[in-house]
Amino acid sequence: MIDQRRADGSLRHLITLEGVRRDEVEALLGRAQHYARALARGSAYNRVLEGVQVATLFAEPSTRTRVSFELAGRRLGAQVLNLELQLSSRVKGESMLDTVYTLQALYFDVLVIRDAEAGVLAHVAAHVAPQVSVLSAGEAHLSHPTQGLLDALTVREHKGAIDQLAIAIVGDIRHSRVARSAYQVFRLLQARELRIVGPPGLLPESEEFPGCARFETLEAGLEGVDVVMMLRIQKERFAATRVPDAAEYFARYGLTPARLARARPDAIVLHPQPMNRGIEIASEVADGPQSVIRAQVSNGVAVRMAVLETVAGRLAQ
Ligand code: CP
Repeated sequence: MIDQRRADGSLRHLITLEGVRRDEVEALLGRAQHYARALARGSAYNRVLEGVQVATLFAEPSTRTRVSFELAGRRLGAQVLNLELQLSSRVKGESMLDTVYTLQALYFDVLVIRDAEAGVLAHVAAHVAPQVSVLSAGEAHLSHPTQGLLDALTVREHKGAIDQLAIAIVGDIRHSRVARSAYQVFRLLQARELRIVGPPGLLPESEEFPGCARFETLEAGLEGVDVVMMLRIQKERFAATRVPDAAEYFARYGLTPARLARARPDAIVLHPQPMNRGIEIASEVADGPQSVIRAQVSNGVAVRMAVLETVAGRLAQ
């Protein structure tokens, strides 16, 4: 297991939700709820990260995660730099670690990293100086912890206590870091029932996602659930010849209003985005009254404020 803590036990890095305790998740969600309300009022500004330097390094594309980490840092008074990796000396062959050592020599305190390769985040965390924190912005198919937290916050805001809820995670679960982090946080918060739903080739290995019921048809998987979390097919993690046919996928696994009617009438629909409308989700659902997809985006800023404050607030001066 990755060591994410300082000697005093406090969270220094957030690379995975594995090993994060329930009380720590509750504390993060509590702070995020505070910031979500302040954001809605237009008053989410403070200086708890004054003097802190945050760098984002994204080796894969991103809209929401990158923008919301930047906004979160600025709202807390940090200086935030987005390093354009494709214009950096990594293109000339510089390693990730040498890039990180350079940022450390430039007195960056927090490094927010997205990478396609499993293990890079832990490798960086094991080599940075003790005052530097490493935050995952998404790692391969493994982990997207701030996405898991914002999903939990959004579900709690709209549906109340998670231990009362049946939650279905639907689609390309095998290749999804979002599914893994969502599963970890919903399990930690003791969701009443967890289901994974998808075609056999996109479900994970049988030993993964313990405690989840598996469904290969969408109709059965959605029956009576409170929360439906839809996922994009992660084409970038497939061999080109194995990407499912879009029309066929939508015909069997696309979330339409008729299929959503299998869930509880007050069920909510999540999607981490980017969405492929007409492949995993119909526009009538994505833009419909049960969708909380845009609330997830807003909560991304609140959650990342809570995480930055938790790992780096003590650095502020
Ligand atoms: N949900 C998510 O990670 O979106 P981005 O890829 O746009 O950051």
